[in-house]
Amino acid sequence: MPQLADTPSWPGLMHQAEVADRADLRSYFANDPNRASSFTITSGELRIDYSKQLITEHNLKSLYALANERELEAKIGAMFRGEPINVTEKRSVLHTALRAAPDREIVVDGHNVVPDVHQVLTDMAALSDRVRSGDWKGSTGKPIEAVVNIGIGGSDLGPLMATRALQAYAHPQLRTYFVSNVDPTHLLDTLKTLNPETTLFVIASKSFTTQETLANARAARQWVLDHLMETDDPNVETADNGDVVGPIVARHFVAVSTNGPEVSAFGIDTANMFGFWDWVGGRYSFDSAVGLTLMISIGAENFHQLLAGFQTMDEHFRTTPWERNGPVLAALIGIWNRNVLGLETHAVLPYSQHLDRFPAYLQQLDMESNGKSVTVDGNPVDYHTGPIVWGEPGTNGQHAFYQLIHQGTSVVPCDFIGFCQPADDVGGQHDLLMANMFAQAEALAFGKSSAEVAEDGVDSELVPHRTFAGNRPSTTILAPALTPLVLGQLVAFYEHKVFTQGVIWGVNSFDQWGVELGKVLANRIASELQASEPAPESHDSSTNALIAHYLSHRAGQ
Ligand code: F6P
Repeated sequence: MPQLADTPSWPGLMHQAEVADRADLRSYFANDPNRASSFTITSGELRIDYSKQLITEHNLKSLYALANERELEAKIGAMFRGEPINVTEKRSVLHTALRAAPDREIVVDGHNVVPDVHQVLTDMAALSDRVRSGDWKGSTGKPIEAVVNIGIGGSDLGPLMATRALQAYAHPQLRTYFVSNVDPTHLLDTLKTLNPETTLFVIASKSFTTQETLANARAARQWVLDHLMETDDPNVETADNGDVVGPIVARHFVAVSTNGPEVSAFGIDTANMFGFWDWVGGRYSFDSAVGLTLMISIGAENFHQLLAGFQTMDEHFRTTPWERNGPVLAALIGIWNRNVLGLETHAVLPYSQHLDRFPAYLQQLDMESNGKSVTVDGNPVDYHTGPIVWGEPGTNGQHAFYQLIHQGTSVVPCDFIGFCQPADDVGGQHDLLMANMFAQAEALAFGKSSAEVAEDGVDSELVPHRTFAGNRPSTTILAPALTPLVLGQLVAFYEHKVFTQGVIWGVNSFDQWGVELGKVLANRIASELQASEPAPESHDSSTNALIAHYLSHRAGQ
């Protein structure tokens, strides 16, 4: 794969960077009364207005050429067909198969995977219906009232984000919780409010070896056994690894994993293990069995609506010309901002409290996918790749970091996300919320010049402080309502945006080797912290000193 700089369009784009310094949204809008409509497209039910980006038709044309030179169309086809595009792990990338219609055929290693996907969805629905109806009983015969998902990364952020997003659809008698952090307070704080007799744990881990998830799962299992196991229980069994298992564990724990032997060793009945496949990346997995807690919360029918939303965006992405293709346009504008304008971060600002975990979810999706410094064939890149993604729901951010977004020295491209119909309203507050969103995008784009500030009669010494330069780029995504259908579209929109950017940057968006070194070192240090004898100082002087200080000050010392 040639370096980006060697593509025919790149020098032209870099040349446009010089002119882009003079880009001015006020004159763009003044010179083109149709700018808003020409720079607004509809992707599924999402209305995407990118007219407030610092971009022209001419710039976009160069970006479309770049997409073609990077063979975007062929690469989209390769992903959808299940070719092994995750080359460093020798895997297909087929999260799109998770929402394929039952009559589709997608073949991996000579096997059509679509019936497998639908079998797991049917099995999930059967469990979900049993829990929701009260038919699934805990070991003392009581129906389930609380479901606790234990998982981390993709086995947490997606289902957590979506369960919160779709809480308007939640079963009224079932509470859901998500425990991810290995900090024991996360689990203990959650358990404080729960009754073990009526709690079901979903242990979600693709590998079933993730340190944090296994530590929390074992602690949860101990809590259940401590409360529910009689000391002379004749049914207690011990697994090969010495773990206490048995019927109580089987009534209170189910698993989502690809690792049957480890699930079984934990004491979970593999009949209650919901599988997925190595061609689903963790951060692309919440529409697989990883969404089990979400399905229990919103019901199988709504979960299928969510899948239908994903599918709508998949088709839009696969079949729409770049000029009207939402994920592709968002990706190309992101390339423009990152590589041409040199902007380092990207803020995602949902004006919906129910999307409060959406920025965190996108951080993993985007930064774990495109936070790379070498191309697919292992050559160092000589351009910037994925931006730092961050954000908070509006309007909270307005009273925190928007000062910097409006007047700071860093320009932050923003995605504003809002809904025409609220999940709930009280006294017209939803109008207030949306007024704030529209106002922020307007203020960022057009600012307030020093002349305008002075005209308001502001003291001359305050004029510079109260001036807004404007010209700060944003995209506004408006959708009808936060329904399962719309959430599926929104998530697939960002999935495909990230894919497109990975293609342009020439990186593998589907591996995550960058998380490995920390895991190895943490395991090594954990065994040193738990050893009876202090380990010989085997790290750098800073790490040695930190460990020594911790050991002499930790609880019980
Ligand atoms: O550490 C990164 C990671 O591998 C993520 O990519 C993944 O989503 C997460 O850990 C959890 O992994 P698992 O589902 O195997 O527990």
